Amino acid sequence: MQKKSLELFSLLFLSFLFINCQDQPEKKQENKKEKVSLQMVFKDDFYIGAAVNDGHIDGTDTLGIKLLKEQFNTITPENVMKWMYIHPQRDTFYFDTADKYVALGNDNNMHVVGHALVWHSQLAEWMNQVKDSTEMATILKEHISTIVKQYKGKIDTWDVVNEALNEDGTLRESNFYNVMGDSYLELAFKEAAKADPDAQLVYNDYNLWKPEKRAGVVRLVKKLQESGAKIDGVGMQAHWSLLGPSIEDIENSIIAYSELGVKVMFTELDVTALPNPWDLNGAAVEQSYEQYEGDPTMNPYPNGMPDSVQIKLAERYEDIFKLFLKHKDKISRVTFWGVQDGQSWLNSWPINGRTNHPLLFDRQYLPKKAYQAVIDLKEKN
Ligand code: G3I
Repeated sequence: MQKKSLELFSLLFLSFLFINCQDQPEKKQENKKEKVSLQMVFKDDFYIGAAVNDGHIDGTDTLGIKLLKEQFNTITPENVMKWMYIHPQRDTFYFDTADKYVALGNDNNMHVVGHALVWHSQLAEWMNQVKDSTEMATILKEHISTIVKQYKGKIDTWDVVNEALNEDGTLRESNFYNVMGDSYLELAFKEAAKADPDAQLVYNDYNLWKPEKRAGVVRLVKKLQESGAKIDGVGMQAHWSLLGPSIEDIENSIIAYSELGVKVMFTELDVTALPNPWDLNGAAVEQSYEQYEGDPTMNPYPNGMPDSVQIKLAERYEDIFKLFLKHKDKISRVTFWGVQDGQSWLNSWPINGRTNHPLLFDRQYLPKKAYQAVIDLKEKN
């Protein structure tokens, strides 16, 4: 009897060992899988980041900060460094919030972006009264040198000029342009380089996939280079949709900008699945369509997107990242314009009060099908 029990015990013990040994590799594999993140997957390709808002900067959005640190290795300030906040009066600079933003990036060894030194929108009101070109030049020099010197060695890349072009590639008739002509562009880039020679300097704009606007960027960059100004990159904002722009148009712009000898960055990536007014013009922030507010046909997913649309979003992001990986030698950074859907500017623009779902993480900070599609891309190719 005893021999039988011993045999039975040995059999049971060996089976136990076998089962557990079998589990180990899966467990290790599972643990390894849990550590996968966007910054880990793309660490040899390009920086991958997100725009951060007040909640990330003041520490109240603890779940958002956790995702930021886990998933991303670069950050961009969605609003806090815009002229109206950081230089509210002619002789007043306000750095407290921007200091906290920069500390968030530096403390987490992230590539820190400054956005944006010269933009016609979100200006302090007093700036719109400046009509003398000498005074405008003095103000621009002081604005740029004061801010860039404040963060010298702490901000790695500056959006020096944002959205200086019209859709046809001509120069936007902003107050900067109307007062100084196109000389404000050269002044801005030269002043930024003087203040921090090591910072990467970028021209940033939306709809840069459009052939006419692409030609405008090529003219703008070439003129800056001929003037001796330092420009290191072109930022394609990438506020796209499920339907466009075409991968071909995006690719043609990546190639055209890269041929100028500058890096290409995708600086404000989001993909809207909501219908937009037919005459919407890119990401020009001043557009608003009050007539559509409350119209359910323009806000089809107030309680979340159906699986079928989540799959379309995943496929669109997969196509986009396939292109990014194809040209990773030309691309230095991909930044999403927000961390999770609930924080996206697209919930209130161009139609206020909508529920949009343009990012990789949902309102519960959980990864969407689109996140998994992007993460799995490299394993599949
Ligand atoms: O902070 C005030 C708050 O005190 C006030 O109660 C509230 C209601 O009026 O407004 C708040 O300011 C808003 C700000 O975002 C912060 O939430 C402004 O009205 C609103 O216009 C501003 O929108 C930002 C927009 O730029 C204009 O600055 C968006 O969040 C931001 O995502 C968007 O980002 C721009 C890029 O900087 C440049 N490229 C295009 C992109 C989208 O327009």
